[in-house]
Amino acid sequence: MSAPTQDHPTQDRPKTLLRALGGEAVWPPPMWLMRQAGRYLPEYRAVRSRAGDFIALCTAPELAAEVTLQPIRRYGMDGAILFSDILMLPWALGHGLRFAEGEGPVLPRLEDQTAIDRLDRDRLHGAIAPILETVRRVRQGLRDEGLEGTALIGFAGAPFTVACYMVEGGGSKEFARVRAMAYGQPALFGRLMDVLTEATIDYLAAQAAAGAEALMLFDSWAGVLSPSLFRRHVIAPSARIAAALKARFPDLKMIGFPRLAGMMLGAYAAETGVDAVGMDTATDPVLAARAVPARMAVQGNLDPMALLAGGEALRAEASGILAALRGRPFVFNLGHGIVPQTPPEHVAALVRQVRDA
Ligand code: CP3
Repeated sequence: MSAPTQDHPTQDRPKTLLRALGGEAVWPPPMWLMRQAGRYLPEYRAVRSRAGDFIALCTAPELAAEVTLQPIRRYGMDGAILFSDILMLPWALGHGLRFAEGEGPVLPRLEDQTAIDRLDRDRLHGAIAPILETVRRVRQGLRDEGLEGTALIGFAGAPFTVACYMVEGGGSKEFARVRAMAYGQPALFGRLMDVLTEATIDYLAAQAAAGAEALMLFDSWAGVLSPSLFRRHVIAPSARIAAALKARFPDLKMIGFPRLAGMMLGAYAAETGVDAVGMDTATDPVLAARAVPARMAVQGNLDPMALLAGGEALRAEASGILAALRGRPFVFNLGHGIVPQTPPEHVAALVRQVRDA
C-alpha cells in the first residue's frame, strides 16, 4: 500500500464532507468526483484487467476496495465512493446482468408480473455479501493508510432509474418502454417500483451497517418523467427510502441525485428528506441554491467535458461554480461522471483550484 503522494488537506480537516452534508458551510468546500475510480486512471485499468470482467471486479472485495482507494491516495478526495454499480441490485435479485465490452449493460427485458415475481429478495443478502465486505475493507484501508478524514459513501440506484434499465433491457436514449409502462400499466409498474424500493432499503441499510457514512441515491433518468410521475416515481420512493434509513441510522447522511430534474429540484429537495441534492451539469447553481432550502447542502456540478478539456475552460467553469455557492453548505463535484479519456493531470489541477478557493 502506497502512502499519500501529496499533501492531503482532507486529513488535516477530517470529515468535511459529513459536516457539509450536515448543513455547515465548510470552506474551501469538500470535494469528490462521480466516477473518480475508473478507466481514466492507469492504476484502475491495471486492476480491472486482473479482475477479468466488471462484475467480477465489483464482487472481489480486495480488488474493489483497492480501486475505491486509488483516487483517495492520488488526490486526497474528501469522499470515497464504494466501487460497485447501481445495476448490482437487479443482479443480486437474480434478474441477470452482463456488461458487453463497448456497449454497456445488458439485462433481460422485464415485461410482465412473472418477471417481477422472480425477483428474489431472499437472494439479496447472500449476493451482496462481497459488496458489504468491500465497504468494511475500505473503512479499514482508510484507517490503515492515514486517510480516515475521507468519508465513505455507499450508494444505490434510485428505484426509477434501476427500473429504467430493467424494463429497457439496458441503456437507451429515450427510455420509451419504461415511460410507456409507467403510463399504460400503472399497477404493474407500481409493483415493480415497490419491490425495488424495499430491496433498495435493505441494500442501503446493509451498507450503512457495514460502515458507509453517507449514502447516495442515483436517479440518473429522473428527468424523463412528467411532473406528476416525477412525484410518484422519483420523490415518493426516495422519501420512503430516506425515512426508513434515517429511522434505523439517525446520523447517516443522504445525498439524492435526481438528474435532469430541472424545475422539480426544489420539490425533490423539500419533500424527500435527503440531506443534500446533487445538481446535474445543466443546472444553474445560483438558481438551484435558491430553489433548495438554505440549510440544505447542494453538490455538483462541473461539466465532465470541461474537466476533459482542461486549461482555462476548466478554471473558468470551476471558479463560476465556487463563486455561486460560497457561503452555503456545498460539496464540489461534477454534474455527471468523469469520462474515461480525461487526463489525470486535469483532475489534479481541479483539486488544487478547489483547495485554494
Ligand atoms: O467511482 C464511482 O463513481 C463509483 C462507482 C460507480 C460506477 N457506476 C462504476 C462503473 C457508480 C456510483 C456508478 C453508478 C452508475 N452506474 C450509474 C448512475 C450514475 C450515472 O452515470 O448516471 C449508472 C446509470 C450506471 C450504469 C452503468 N454502469 C452503465 C450505463 C455503464 C456502462 C457505461 C460505462 O461508462 O462504461 C456502467 C459500467 C461502469 N460502472 C463502469 C464503472 C467504472 C465502467 C466499467 C469498466 O471499467 O469497463
